[in-house]
Amino acid sequence: MDFKRKRRPWRLLRLIQALIVLGLILGATALWVARPVPLPDDHFAGLTGDAARGETVFWASGCASCHAEEGAEGDARLILTGGRQFVSDFGTFVAPNISSDPVYGIGGWTVQDLGNAVLRGVAPDGRHYYPAFPYASYARMTPQDLVDLHAFMATLPASNRPNEGHDLAMPFAFRPGIGLWKRFVAHDEGWVVTDALSPQEKRGRYLAEGLAHCGECHTPRTALGGLDRSRWFAGAPNPSGEGRIPNISPALLRWSEEDLVAYFTYGLTPDFDSAGGSMTDVIHNLARLPESDRAAIAAYLQKVRPVQ
Ligand code: HEC
Ligand code: HEC
Repeated sequence: MDFKRKRRPWRLLRLIQALIVLGLILGATALWVARPVPLPDDHFAGLTGDAARGETVFWASGCASCHAEEGAEGDARLILTGGRQFVSDFGTFVAPNISSDPVYGIGGWTVQDLGNAVLRGVAPDGRHYYPAFPYASYARMTPQDLVDLHAFMATLPASNRPNEGHDLAMPFAFRPGIGLWKRFVAHDEGWVVTDALSPQEKRGRYLAEGLAHCGECHTPRTALGGLDRSRWFAGAPNPSGEGRIPNISPALLRWSEEDLVAYFTYGLTPDFDSAGGSMTDVIHNLARLPESDRAAIAAYLQKVRPVQ
């Protein structure tokens, strides 16, 4: 008995040693898995930006909904001054200044910098951005569209409003955790609607699943915060806490393509109700697109699987 008891402290020490080594290995592995994955250096090689085409990309992607001042209307939505707050379960996010100001905005950013931010959620200094910035959807953007967007954003006014920090609860203030989320939850699984589509429906899918990120609001999330692709567009709780965002799959939304185009253009439902909440901004963006793009989104919506 006595003999055995004397040996125990050594065993314990060895166990602690082993646990520390294991902990270091696990920690290093987690950091390696969570590391930022920027775009390849030649992702935009040989492409030149066209600001006029970039304007369409800009409105389709709804950048102004978050980066213009709250309540801004008309051309004031082109001043991407930041400051708008987004309250969530994790705390409050504040949108940064992404105007063309070289000091306070992103006027000094290269195409590659903007591409890494918008398509990968990675900052020029390698930090991960929070998914309050919907880069998981923007990941679908073609390289040419991103280059055009960069050219258009350079033509927008500068603003010298300084950025504010986010106000987040502790585990969420730790950015490497986002890397794990990106890798395991928000990784690219391809298009949701994979049926044979006409060119118009494909354009609608590119806009709705990618640039216009409709799913970020209209699709419910899994326990880990990823979009639940099996319930695509089935409606979701409103992140601002008020009411629910409606189901827009053909199970509940039986509007014709003309009804949808009218809604996306004037914000009026077939019963002449006007669109409210965060959809108001979405419609201000969609209304600036060519009619053919609104029609393409409407055509795509008819191809979504009905979910009750
Ligand atoms: C739903 C709201 C939302 C939309 C839409 C959105 N952003 Fe953002 N964006 C954010 C938030 C919030 C952040 C801050 C993320 C962080 O700090 O981790 C951000 C960060 C950024 C940054 C990083 C700025 C910096 O100083 O590091 C850039 C660049 C950016 N957004 C560009 C865009 C562009 C371009 C679009 C349209 C294609 C867009 N955003 C659409 C919310 C949004
Ligand atoms: C920022 C969140 C957000 C995004 C992004 C968004 N929506 Fe909405 N949408 C809403 C909200 C909120 C409503 C409810 C509006 C209301 O209460 O009047 C809504 C309503 C709708 C309706 C009307 C449904 C009904 O039964 O009245 C349609 C159709 C619709 N959205 C389609 C889309 C499409 C297509 C996209 C992408 C191009 C999109 N939405 C992107 C938040 C969003």
